[in-house]
Amino acid sequence: MKKQILIGMALVASMSLSAQKEASITIKVNEGKQTIPKEIYGQFAEHLGTCIYGGLWVGENSSIPNTNGYRTDVLNALKELKIPVLRWPGGCFADEYHWMDGIGPKENRPKMVNNNWGGTIEDNSFGTHEFLNLCEILGCEPYISGNVGSGTVEELAKWVEYMTSDGDSPMANLRRKNGRDKAWKVKYLGVGNESWGCGGNMRPEYYADLYRRYETYCRNYDNNRLYKIASGASDYDYNWTEVLMERARKNMHGISLHYYTVTGWSGSKGSAINFTDEDYYWTMGKCREVEDVLKKHIAIMDKHDPSKKVNLLLDEWGTWWDEEPGTIRGHLYQQNSLRDAFVASLSFDIFHKYTERLTMANIAQIVNVLQSMILTNDNGIVLTPTYHVFNMYKVHQDATYLPLELICEGMKVRDDRTVPLISTTASKDKDGKIHISLSNIHLDETQEITINLPDVKTKNVSGQILTSKNITDHNTFDKPDVVNLKEFKGAKFNKGVLKVTLPAKSIVTLELN
Ligand code: AHR
Repeated sequence: MKKQILIGMALVASMSLSAQKEASITIKVNEGKQTIPKEIYGQFAEHLGTCIYGGLWVGENSSIPNTNGYRTDVLNALKELKIPVLRWPGGCFADEYHWMDGIGPKENRPKMVNNNWGGTIEDNSFGTHEFLNLCEILGCEPYISGNVGSGTVEELAKWVEYMTSDGDSPMANLRRKNGRDKAWKVKYLGVGNESWGCGGNMRPEYYADLYRRYETYCRNYDNNRLYKIASGASDYDYNWTEVLMERARKNMHGISLHYYTVTGWSGSKGSAINFTDEDYYWTMGKCREVEDVLKKHIAIMDKHDPSKKVNLLLDEWGTWWDEEPGTIRGHLYQQNSLRDAFVASLSFDIFHKYTERLTMANIAQIVNVLQSMILTNDNGIVLTPTYHVFNMYKVHQDATYLPLELICEGMKVRDDRTVPLISTTASKDKDGKIHISLSNIHLDETQEITINLPDVKTKNVSGQILTSKNITDHNTFDKPDVVNLKEFKGAKFNKGVLKVTLPAKSIVTLELN
């Protein structure tokens, strides 16, 4: 069942159906106020499966080509994405991680059991130095997730000192002894992760007090200024945000939120690559529901903090499917199809609208885990369809968000959600270039889109498209380019109107300059 809907003015209107798929967009080119913070394109790396070991890090003695222990192929691919921020070491792992086990000579580092993720033995060869040096190589901000669940206040306080003090302090001297003279710059500090669950199973009232206690001792050393993030709610747990905002807002710069596009937390989550059209449309609806979840958490924050001092950080999001057959249980290794690419593009289109409050988002996770950018094996890497969306969308980083109105058809899906068949976002960068991203969610039908750009004079239009024959298509080590970016020639600009022929199941980003 289909109906036309108008998006952008919070109005949904049923209108008569037209036989042809048509949509129209009006972009308010002169009304942009809000910058899209580049941190919306953040990443997350956890000691989980082969995200760190085998994915990012193979060690200096590996036969896999590496640069000081980091996989060279992965580094090169990640540099292309202009990653703004990388969260580490978890996730659930963070609340069992004791950072002192991961510094000093590697042969002396104690081992531990990674209890959350398959009971794998963690040898701590990738620790603080390896992570912070990686951030320097990638040119991104580190986001440290501190241990509150099983760690002490003293342990977290000393970690901050170790990383950021440049003085003649005990932890700074220990860092120097371990080979790093100058302090790193560390801005983002998470105080616990999922403290309602794997991070300690706490009540929000208890965690709010604990948060205040832990953050007190995380100091600003020298020129370093910490941005402290309270462990936030899962999905629809609005009470968590309510209690934290009421009791601890004055002690935090941000509060996190986690939202996964997942069928449920028990039983099968469904295959990443074997799914029906109906499953696909349901996924689009579930993914888009993040908008409602964001709005509700933001409304609570607005009530407690009308001047918007505290930010919301969606520091885990993405798809969560069944682990691939034959892979190690608990390692969350999943393939990534064109469907995942749509989850990425639709999510960004939504995130861009809420950046007055939402200032960071970190997809879970960067390599080999959940909705990753890259899959690796000993012989090489595969760039996923999600990687290509991040690459195509990077033009929106730090650009001015352009408000818009969209009229398109919608489709009712399982669970009674209505999914608009077009998703879009637009921004203007510092050089005056306008970028418009468009997703045609419909699996079979091309959409003719009229984009009104009042006041825009003659513009050259270029673009890239991500699509494939089947929505289940994905890239493998044997066929790494099944889903890849191609030049898009289906857009024509004339007298303030852009006409776009958008193929079925395609994601496009246009540049007007
Ligand atoms: O990203 C995988 C896990 O999902 C994280 O460790 C945890 O925070 C969340 O439940």
